Amino acid sequence: MIDQNMLKQLNGQVNAELYSAYLYLSMSAYFEGKNLKGFANWMRVQSKEELGHAMKIYDFIIERGGRAELAKIETPEKDWPSPVDVFKKTLEHEKHVTSLINGLVKTARSIDDYATEIFLQWFVTEQVEEEANAEEILNKLEMIKDSKNGVFMLDRELGARQ
Ligand SMILES: [Fe+2]
Ligand SMILES: [Fe+2]
Repeated sequence: MIDQNMLKQLNGQVNAELYSAYLYLSMSAYFEGKNLKGFANWMRVQSKEELGHAMKIYDFIIERGGRAELAKIETPEKDWPSPVDVFKKTLEHEKHVTSLINGLVKTARSIDDYATEIFLQWFVTEQVEEEANAEEILNKLEMIKDSKNGVFMLDRELGARQ
């Protein structure tokens, strides 16, 4: 049987991943409203990935004989001053999620729960990629600044994400 505190944190992480999905879907809707279909696509794919993360943890809880408990998902923001601010927020949010994952690893280690620690390794690696992806797009947007042509090109690039 899985440790109760570990279980609580895993359930909390399911909620955090679902919130991430919600936040990115909200960002996708923001970009739809700005007619930036490529950015909207990128965020929609990102949202789906976060749902996948939530389900991965949900399944792990069940596999370990724990009870998956679903809590309320916070309402995400819906407006940002500009696309740059959306990606600033994305990077900031991913850093926050990284700190949550690190907290889970810490708990797993402190109670010698090797199975959970190994399970979490995938998320540790994933977070490195998540932060790098958000930072890369943020850097591009900061380079582009107000160039309509640049935004158009980046929109096309992000539209290719599947
Ligand atoms: Fe995630
Ligand atoms: Fe993420």
